[in-house]
Amino acid sequence: MILVTGATGNVGNPLLHELQQAKMPYRAAVRDPVQAAQRHGNHPWVKFDFQNPDTYARALEGVNQVFVVLPPGQGSLKVRMYPFLDHCAHRKIEHMVYLSLLGAPQNPAAPHHQIEKHLQNLPLTASFLRASFFMQNLMTTHREEVIDGHLKMPAGHGRTSFVDTRDIARAAKQLFKHPPSETRGYDLTGSEALTYFEVAEILSRELGRNIKYDNPGLFEFVQHWRQKNTKWDFIMIMMVIYTTARLGRAGRVSTDLQDLLGTPPTTFAEFARDMQSCWPPRIQTQEKNHALQP
Ligand SMILES: NC(=O)c1ccc[n+]([C@@H]2O[C@H](COP(=O)([O-])OP(=O)(O)OC[C@H]3O[C@@H](n4cnc5c(N)ncnc54)[C@H](OP(=O)(O)O)[C@@H]3O)[C@@H](O)[C@H]2O)c1
Repeated sequence: MILVTGATGNVGNPLLHELQQAKMPYRAAVRDPVQAAQRHGNHPWVKFDFQNPDTYARALEGVNQVFVVLPPGQGSLKVRMYPFLDHCAHRKIEHMVYLSLLGAPQNPAAPHHQIEKHLQNLPLTASFLRASFFMQNLMTTHREEVIDGHLKMPAGHGRTSFVDTRDIARAAKQLFKHPPSETRGYDLTGSEALTYFEVAEILSRELGRNIKYDNPGLFEFVQHWRQKNTKWDFIMIMMVIYTTARLGRAGRVSTDLQDLLGTPPTTFAEFARDMQSCWPPRIQTQEKNHALQP
């Protein structure tokens, strides 16, 4: 039995579908099972909160493998994560697949670096999925920019090896299906590294309308997000991510994903085609919003 945390998220949710299709037994861990069922349909939901140890025992009943997602947010890992990871080791969980970050081993400031180290010291096998920047960020954080036709990431001409979270979910399923005998990391990237000029070109082609990369400086970027009342800590995280890309450090391409899947990773063009209904032209969005008003 596999316990999936982050089960309503970018990676956990497609993983539920993968496991369901493969008829592999799983349980979907969320803070609010009723809301999750309403929004995400029929899965074996169980109440779970990393920060509430009272929820661990029931979620882990009969479980031997766990998918772990560090939820976005701040705060000490000793409170947010380690109690659950230690509890898993205590319950003799055999294999944990942890959603980490590309470059985590070389980046001691990242929480993923510390969590990987913590897991390496526990008596279980861990698979670290070191994922590159998600294509799905264009459907969430940057959705309005795509709809408006102006991408505003301060990444300059830097390249990013975008990865589709559906591929990460498929890779996790493979690792649950064939659990490795040793702890190791997998660098999960797409097969190409793109600049945001190229991203804008692909989106324009696939969506059939003009989408431009504005190539803003950091000051303009901060102004844009402050106008939306975005919290400073989130703006800071985005600045780190896009400065990394600007400096040419987000473009590394690895074959680990293809090795795990046995097929090439999803390209950005395929992703844009599959998800095009997420970015309706602005006129439709306005009509939709208008229709919602009393
Ligand atoms: N975005 C990227 O480009 C990127 C790239 C590499 C790695 N990552 C890493 O990916 C992780 C995020 O994964 P994601 O995007 O799939 O998740 P996500 O879409 O941000 O969703 C967060 C998930 O965490 C759950 N959650 C929040 N607080 C919780 C708590 N206290 N206890 C239990 N569950 C809780 C939420 O579930 P409920 O609210 O339903 O309970 C939700 O399913 C982060 O660690 C990030 O650093 C992101």
